[in-house]
Amino acid sequence: MDAQDIKQDLLTELLSENEIQARLKEIAGQIEKDYQGKDLLLVGVLKGAIMVVADLARAMSRHVEMDWMAVSSYGYGTTSSGVVRILKDLDQDIKDRNVLIVEDIVDSGLTLSWLQKNLISRGPTSVEVMALLRKPEALTVELEPKYIGFDIPNEFVVGYGLDYGEKYRNLRSVASLHPDVYSGD
Ligand code: IMP
Repeated sequence: MDAQDIKQDLLTELLSENEIQARLKEIAGQIEKDYQGKDLLLVGVLKGAIMVVADLARAMSRHVEMDWMAVSSYGYGTTSSGVVRILKDLDQDIKDRNVLIVEDIVDSGLTLSWLQKNLISRGPTSVEVMALLRKPEALTVELEPKYIGFDIPNEFVVGYGLDYGEKYRNLRSVASLHPDVYSGD
């Protein structure tokens, strides 16, 4: 397989670059309406949400601040404990701030539930969630994202920030991987 060509590794394109950008524009407009006259701090969850935060923020014409968190989930997919460890915390105090957590994808939703509760305990005015993608399992999450880009089927996807072994994040679309890629592991 040609290591230089990402496209060769892909099976199906689920979302094109244009579809993603058009949806982000819609959501950005909705956020601007909802937060009119209020401060807004976007909290991106590293590393997957970097593209979403970058494009969502630039689709807005209002002032917006950005901060970042990195978390690691223990026992992902095997336990329902939802234990999460903070690898990088926010640079700033979020007391009395309007926080919008930006996520790439909600799968089980355990990471997000934990993060949302953790941030609420710091005394912000509000904590809401924007997730670009949502898988079917996430429908059982108690704290629902306020903004969802797309509902997708329950399959592993890469691109637009999402990785497989740290690769494919730089793909402009969202796609499923060719089975050959997994079998090469
Ligand atoms: P959750 O706690 O089960 O919702 O897991 C969410 C995290 O799992 C996301 O932030 C991603 O890092 C990762 N993840 C879940 N599904 C996928 C996928 O299809 N492709 C790439 N990463 C995924």
